[in-house]
Amino acid sequence: MIKVLIVFGTRPEAIKMCPVIKKLEEYSQIKTVVCLTGQHREMLLPILNIFQVAPKYDLNIMKDRQTLFDITIAVLSKIKDVLDQEKPTVVLVHGDTTSAFAAAVACFYKGIPIGHVEAGLRTYNHYSPYPEEFNRQAIDSITDIFFAPTVSAKENLLKEGKYEKNIFVTGNTVIDALKTTIHAEYSHEVLKWAENNRLILFTAHRRENIGTSMRKIFEAVNEVVDEFEDVRVVYPVHLNPKVQEIANEIFNNTEKIKLIAPLDVIDFHNIMSRSYMVITDSGGVQEEAPSLGKPVLVIRNTTERPEGVAAGTLKLVGTEKDNIKKALKELLTNKETYRKMSEAKNPYGDGKASERIGQVILKRWGE
Ligand code: UD1
Ligand code: UDP
Repeated sequence: MIKVLIVFGTRPEAIKMCPVIKKLEEYSQIKTVVCLTGQHREMLLPILNIFQVAPKYDLNIMKDRQTLFDITIAVLSKIKDVLDQEKPTVVLVHGDTTSAFAAAVACFYKGIPIGHVEAGLRTYNHYSPYPEEFNRQAIDSITDIFFAPTVSAKENLLKEGKYEKNIFVTGNTVIDALKTTIHAEYSHEVLKWAENNRLILFTAHRRENIGTSMRKIFEAVNEVVDEFEDVRVVYPVHLNPKVQEIANEIFNNTEKIKLIAPLDVIDFHNIMSRSYMVITDSGGVQEEAPSLGKPVLVIRNTTERPEGVAAGTLKLVGTEKDNIKKALKELLTNKETYRKMSEAKNPYGDGKASERIGQVILKRWGE
């Protein structure tokens, strides 16, 4: 029996790993065990319910205003017992979070093979996004099997000298997730509130933006929205108290911008698919929007998702106030720019990434 231990801790990892877990559970030769690090709590638990995933372990590490030290130390020290008890054939981690990094390091210390889902994404700037670029490079330096979502992610790994026989292009599992979450019939109070106005879905949480950059980004959105009668913005604010403080401070006086609690993933995907456009610094949202044909202004200085830019859906606008205002006004006034960016294209696969991951595991470790 192949025992696959799947370790994750945050919202985006849960959204992208639940489809993998469900697929692996279908194979009789594989036993799956799920371990949450608990890096996120409220933002993650609803996803497990939606996908009907039951973790065996929860390291329960979350602290208010946790630092990178807190997360790394807590995961490393607590996961050791889980690895000793389960003795997995392989451990799957996802992406670029500190949970994934610390879990991978623990596996490396124990000599347990690591499968990295969403391997090979790169900006080659350790500080952007921070600490994610370091995390993903560090994980890939000790990974045994790379599940690259796209050909360009595979090319990054090859350039770094990884062996081709260990790299598998699977597509991104976020497309698998969209198959479960998007519904033809859907309504939500946010959509009723926006009525016939153009709805912008907004998210911002990146660690390196917290502070002045985030204030400037919020001011840019505020000032542009002020100029358009028919525009509404909904911002499901990340539970990070530092983000909440800035959001409440800058968006305190407008009826056109609605701050709400984080949405569950069904609501988020369905509201996105019915919105006019998206403004975000999120990684996952940059992958979902091209599939749904929603123009995205990426409020970051780098992106590890060049496929969405090439598809024409994503525009990297940085964090300078004037640049954001200019790009946003352009999308709100120039129909041709809007049309070009809203053609649905999907560079992230066919929704069968989880199956490919399962097949690779069976081939590598099956009898
Ligand atoms: C983490 C990841 C980031 C990912 C993001 C997804 C790291 C270093 N960062 O960043 O890569 O893009 O998740 O959202 O791995 N909080 C709650 N409840 C929750 C979740 C968070 O209260 O369910 C609050 C806590 O006060 C916590 C704070 O948010 O201390 C920050 O959470 P943390 O996971 O450290 O950072 P994120 O910005 O969420
Ligand atoms: N998301 C969600 N509810 C929200 C905001 C985002 O379910 O209120 C989903 C979104 O669809 C995407 C994922 O969360 O799949 C992205 O997570 P986040 O932006 O927190 O992290 P990142 O992808 O930047 O690491």
